[in-house]
Amino acid sequence: MVMLKNKIVFITGASAGIGEACAYAFANEGANLILTARRLDRLQAIKEEIEDRYSVKVLVAKLDVSNRSEVISVINNLDEQWMNIDILVNNAGLGRGINKLHEDNPEGWDEMIDTNVKGLLIVTKEVVKTMVRRKRGHVINIGSIAGHQAYPGGSVYCATKHAVRAITESLRMEMLEHNVKVSTIDPGMVETEFSEVRFYGDKEKAKNVYNGLKPLSGEDVAETVIFCATRPKHVNINEIIVMPSAQASAMIAYRE
Ligand SMILES: NC(=O)c1ccc[n+]([C@@H]2O[C@H](COP(=O)([O-])OP(=O)(O)OC[C@H]3O[C@@H](n4cnc5c(N)ncnc54)[C@H](OP(=O)(O)O)[C@@H]3O)[C@@H](O)[C@H]2O)c1
Repeated sequence: MVMLKNKIVFITGASAGIGEACAYAFANEGANLILTARRLDRLQAIKEEIEDRYSVKVLVAKLDVSNRSEVISVINNLDEQWMNIDILVNNAGLGRGINKLHEDNPEGWDEMIDTNVKGLLIVTKEVVKTMVRRKRGHVINIGSIAGHQAYPGGSVYCATKHAVRAITESLRMEMLEHNVKVSTIDPGMVETEFSEVRFYGDKEKAKNVYNGLKPLSGEDVAETVIFCATRPKHVNINEIIVMPSAQASAMIAYRE
């Protein structure tokens, strides 16, 4: 089993939901954290709480993954003590609307593609360069069941998560000779701020998504990320699909 104590873990979208839960889960294993997102105030509060509870170091940085020059500058200007990133958790992402394509607003498409695909690509490029130099590392992407199955109203979100899956597979092949592991964790419904963001702040609509069933929590997903990150050197978890027990596929859930 790989021990995470003193490893450096870089997490995107660490200010809420799955990313925040991953931050606590890695801290619990003794890893030092680079937490990034757009909302720096939230990251600062998480850093204070983690440093209070665990004896690990936390660095926070404002980072919009869709801003290519910001990503390049933040990652390439890390201090010497932070630059040797062992694990990258590519978690930042969002959905916008569940509308039929012909009725949808293309602005949401740009946001999803720029964040979930292009953002993940540029962060990965900049971090993986350093892993290749050191001949060690692990990239863990947060994909989705939407990367395996499409559904009506999800053409763009599902396309972005299918893209994450393709990127994961290509990167794994490219990284073989460099001793860098590549994995993806693909959840079904997780109760986070995801639905609120998807419905542009409509809390009522967001809550209805989880009506009559128990969704996953960010912590449930973080547990699978830790499982993946702690396998022995010769073992790689290519992909885990983790679903609420009440959800059988992207579209089929049992609600009481
Ligand atoms: N919730 C689900 O049902 C579900 C299911 C499958 C997969 N996922 C995936 O899980 C990941 C995390 O989502 P979540 O459920 O935890 O949602 P969430 O609670 O809304 O958290 C999303 C995180 O991503 C960050 N983010 C969004 N846009 C960003 C950008 N341009 N640059 C940097 N950070 C950005 C947000 O931080 P800031 O706003 O502070 O930047 C936030 O920390 C996403 O990739 C999502 O697609 C979610």
